[in-house]
Amino acid sequence: MCAGFNPIAEYEARTKKSRQWFHEASDHLPGGVTGNVKFYKPYPICAARAKGSHLWDLDGNDYIDYMLCFGPLILGHGHPRVIKAIQDQLERDGTTIFGPPHELETKMAERLNRIFPCAERTRFTNSGLEATLHALRVARGYKRKNRIAKFEGHYHGCYDEVLVSLTPSEEIAGPEVAPQSVSCSLGTSDYTLQSVQVLPFNDVESSVRLLKAHKNDLAALIMEPVQRGFVAADPEFLKAIREVTDDLDIILIFDEVMSGFRMDRLGGAQTMFGVTPDMMCLGKIIGGGFPCGAFLGRKDIMDVVNPATRAKDQRVFHGGTFNGHPTVLAAGMATLDVLEEPETYPYLNRITAKLQDGLNDLFERLGVVAQAIGPGSTFNIVFGDQKICDYRDALLCDEKKRQIFDFGMLARGIHYHPDKPLYTSTAHTDEDIDQALKTAEEVLKLMGS
Ligand SMILES: Cc1ncc(COP(=O)(O)O)c(C=O)c1O
Repeated sequence: MCAGFNPIAEYEARTKKSRQWFHEASDHLPGGVTGNVKFYKPYPICAARAKGSHLWDLDGNDYIDYMLCFGPLILGHGHPRVIKAIQDQLERDGTTIFGPPHELETKMAERLNRIFPCAERTRFTNSGLEATLHALRVARGYKRKNRIAKFEGHYHGCYDEVLVSLTPSEEIAGPEVAPQSVSCSLGTSDYTLQSVQVLPFNDVESSVRLLKAHKNDLAALIMEPVQRGFVAADPEFLKAIREVTDDLDIILIFDEVMSGFRMDRLGGAQTMFGVTPDMMCLGKIIGGGFPCGAFLGRKDIMDVVNPATRAKDQRVFHGGTFNGHPTVLAAGMATLDVLEEPETYPYLNRITAKLQDGLNDLFERLGVVAQAIGPGSTFNIVFGDQKICDYRDALLCDEKKRQIFDFGMLARGIHYHPDKPLYTSTAHTDEDIDQALKTAEEVLKLMGS
């Protein structure tokens, strides 16, 4: 590293008001944040305003934003069509929310059922977390079985079952071919650990063996077809998982909260891979920047929540005061309007490839052992040259180098959450990408690679 290069000190020097805010916020919010993922050391920037591809912090620093609130803002901040849709809805409907069912719910459900191959029926929720939680309960209710399977390192929200084996250390994770059910949060009961079968991602043989061994009590297998937005399933692996879950009569749920609209085309990972699950979950983008989620799937399975056809003791409970919120759906519909225009995905693909390939070219040219990996309009940067196929491979990357790189970028006006994937949007311009690449080159040279 070049003598005197200290990106964390640079960051602190530029973000004095954010530091001040952090100290005040910490008196009221644990860690100054409303969710653990929003925190990073020494303190996160405090956002003041945002527009398009840009975000400004309390100190007035102008950033090109590649965080986009962990993915939902695929049209950038404050897209005019989204803002107009919200204003129109409020004016037209005369209220923020009705209570009784309303037409927009049906229109959005019809649209999602058309876009996603596995979707015949939809129910809305207020977050991705709720979507996976309800999908799993529906699966258990439909199959009348108690246990579920998930992959090590896959994220489905922050509740007991799906936090199992999310980020286990290597010491406690168990054998790679038969991972242990490991608690990744205090408060996880032994019962929860026992009710989750953990599988190794992208390992056909071990996953099939474990599914066969536990087939009698497994209701569902939930998975991210693209782990954490950047480790894609091997297409053959995904096909094998589809086949074996079919054979064993286990409901296959794709959690597409992240991948739903961030692959290289409309229709999510299931369309890109040509593998149709039984159920799926959505979130993030379908709310156009508002809290939203949905679980969708085959009619016969989804019907297990149907109060019109099923007696109380024969159905799964699904509720939520704010489900299908009109303002949220108006913002989501406006977002999907833009995403369904023929030029949108080609633009997103081009702009993402320019950044991702540009970074990989830089790594090669400067002899940096790093990779920018991931399909669609999300990718991650890992410092390491090993092929990343699963959680354990990702554990071997150089976190310290990544931290130095991230703070070097942040201190020079390129914003994303340290150690997390980067997201692009239709608001990002060629100039934004050129600026990010120029900054990355400067930082990598200072890192002395
Ligand atoms: C794949 C996946 N599933 C579920 C969730 C949870 O969504 P939410 O944060 O809206 O609860 C996330 C959030 O990042 C996610 O990436």
